[in-house]
Amino acid sequence: MELSNKIAVITGAGSGIGRASSLKLASDGATVVVVDFNKETGEETLKLVKEQGGEGIFIQADVSKTEDVQNYVNKAVETYGRIDIFFNNAGVIQKFAPFTEVEESEFDRIMSVNVKGIFLGMKYVLKVMEAQGFGSVINTASTAGVRAEHSVAVYSASKHAVVALTKGAALEYAKKGIRINALCPGGVETALTASVTEQFEKGGYIPEELPNMRMGRYAAPKELAEMVAYLASEKASYMTGSIVLVDGGLTL
Ligand SMILES: NC(=O)c1ccc[n+]([C@@H]2O[C@H](COP(=O)([O-])OP(=O)(O)OC[C@H]3O[C@@H](n4cnc5c(N)ncnc54)[C@H](O)[C@@H]3O)[C@@H](O)[C@H]2O)c1
Repeated sequence: MELSNKIAVITGAGSGIGRASSLKLASDGATVVVVDFNKETGEETLKLVKEQGGEGIFIQADVSKTEDVQNYVNKAVETYGRIDIFFNNAGVIQKFAPFTEVEESEFDRIMSVNVKGIFLGMKYVLKVMEAQGFGSVINTASTAGVRAEHSVAVYSASKHAVVALTKGAALEYAKKGIRINALCPGGVETALTASVTEQFEKGGYIPEELPNMRMGRYAAPKELAEMVAYLASEKASYMTGSIVLVDGGLTL
């Protein structure tokens, strides 16, 4: 199997893209460290992994808190000795609102999970990977990381920051055996997008690609997981600093 004997840490693994990727990486042979804020859904993901014959552990963590990030990194290394793959994926969508009505507290919440969480994850995992001399990091950005999306300017700013953190780190680690790429999903059928159409309708602005995106449907989370597994594997051995769109043509 493509990822046999690999140790993969996945954040935001209790739902959506993170859960589908945990299942895909495990089915490709990786042992998974399932990380989520939500204990119940995180444990459920681990149960699903085990039901399909995979192995792993669950660690509860808020990715925006330093001590929680240090804890999941330390536990992964204590348990399995190394981290080969890091899917730095946890993120939250902002409340849709006209620019001037976005609360300052909402700005702080989005930045703290989507930007600080990604930064802290890389800060501590890259130390481990540097000592090993190998590793693959995949950060979840978004189509909102490469273009503006209406009524979510702060979310878009946070995802542009994920793109910049990815490029900056990739540049520094290119000669150290560590590849760092960003995944940019468009519309994926997950808890995060469940109310998007309704929120746009309430705000009185409907983007031309809604309700069903350009391909007539949203992506299934497993269609993103395929790219995560590819970027994690040696098949992507010459990819670093890439900002990879898996968006069904959304940004066209
Ligand atoms: N769904 C989409 O259309 C879409 C599009 C572009 C980008 N994304 C990005 O993909 C990533 C995954 O989103 P999803 O659609 O699977 O969403 P989701 O809501 O289904 O899953 C996100 C998971 O992250 C966890 N989480 C949230 N905050 C956390 C925190 N502070 N610490 C630890 N875990 C936390 C949640 O508990 C949840 O299990 C996010 O970064 C999101 O911004 C999603």
